[in-house]
Amino acid sequence: MPEIAQIRTELERELAIVSQQKLGAREALLRLRTKYLGDDGLVTLLVRSVKTLSAEEKRTVGRAANDLKRECEEIFAARHQELEQAQLDSTLANEWIDWTARSSIMESGQQSGAYHPVTIVQRECENIFLSMGFEILDGPHIETDYYNFEALNIPADHPARDMQDTFWFADKLHLLRTQTSAVQVRGMELYRPPFRFIAPGKVFRSERTDASHEMVFHQLEGMMVGEGITVGNLIYFMQTILTEIFKRNVEVRLRPGFFPFVEPGFELDIRCLICDGKGCSVCKHSGWVELLPCGMVHPAVLRFGKIDPEKASGFAFGMGLDRLVMMKYLIDDIRLIHSGELRFSSQFQCGGL
Ligand code: FA5
Repeated sequence: MPEIAQIRTELERELAIVSQQKLGAREALLRLRTKYLGDDGLVTLLVRSVKTLSAEEKRTVGRAANDLKRECEEIFAARHQELEQAQLDSTLANEWIDWTARSSIMESGQQSGAYHPVTIVQRECENIFLSMGFEILDGPHIETDYYNFEALNIPADHPARDMQDTFWFADKLHLLRTQTSAVQVRGMELYRPPFRFIAPGKVFRSERTDASHEMVFHQLEGMMVGEGITVGNLIYFMQTILTEIFKRNVEVRLRPGFFPFVEPGFELDIRCLICDGKGCSVCKHSGWVELLPCGMVHPAVLRFGKIDPEKASGFAFGMGLDRLVMMKYLIDDIRLIHSGELRFSSQFQCGGL
């Protein structure tokens, strides 16, 4: 019994020291717990030694030893809880953040991030089309010959394949898609008429670059299929999207264009806004920029999409997004758009994307 009293006094003394400690109190408490309640701890050994006592002693000493053990466990649990709470209080008091403070990045004159102009214009277009009931589809950059060419009425050895210089994979079955039109038949596999969707994204062509040509650029494909869709619907949607994007009337012209997947096909050109039609390197001194090829979906393509051309018709278009960015922000060289130059891309306002 005196030994029990001695352990209790010693524990109280040591706990008082730990309470004074500012640093490492949690570790010190843990060490103390091991000293008393660990496998070879003072209290553990005490409880274990009870079994060597006589039956009479077991009754009194045994109970006192077990009481001490329970008391110790409660004390350590309570102290642990107190220290955790103190730690939390101190974190909350010291580590709060002032959201209104000017950041050190801004103070040091560094630039914060900004949306890329292609992203801004793409999102603007997406919102306009969403408001007109279109869905947004995504397609893979690595495509099969089937979706990029064959299902678009461009079989192997068709001369139209030469219109787009293609990055082929070694297996000659896969390629980096040359046009977002590759999503047309994928879309028709997903939806049954009537449907309307757009598919924006990157496309790749092995081309020489100049002021209006890049090897990696962006297109926004659109497709609308249903009963009785005509060229009138096509022209209405093209006009609406251009007015919404430029927020003013822009001069456009529609001329015949050849694409094997549309019939009839059109080239929709926009009066070059960079030179006001006077002629510059972007419009190749013609005063017009090719922006929005389009047409009525060819019956053969509808059939690839398992749609009966007798029952439904539709239109499709493939807008050049980078050229649209150039016209909207008066950028006179497409290569600037892809330069990765932060001084260039941080100039554009996203207007709450
Ligand atoms: C096509 O890619 C067709 N898939 C478009 C289409 C879709 C027609 C649906 C009919 C129906 P084209 O190769 O002309 O067509 O490219 C479309 C647009 O992408 C061009 O008008 C132009 O704005 C842009 N474009 C083409 N090549 C480049 C390039 N190298 N760099 C930047 N923009 C380009």
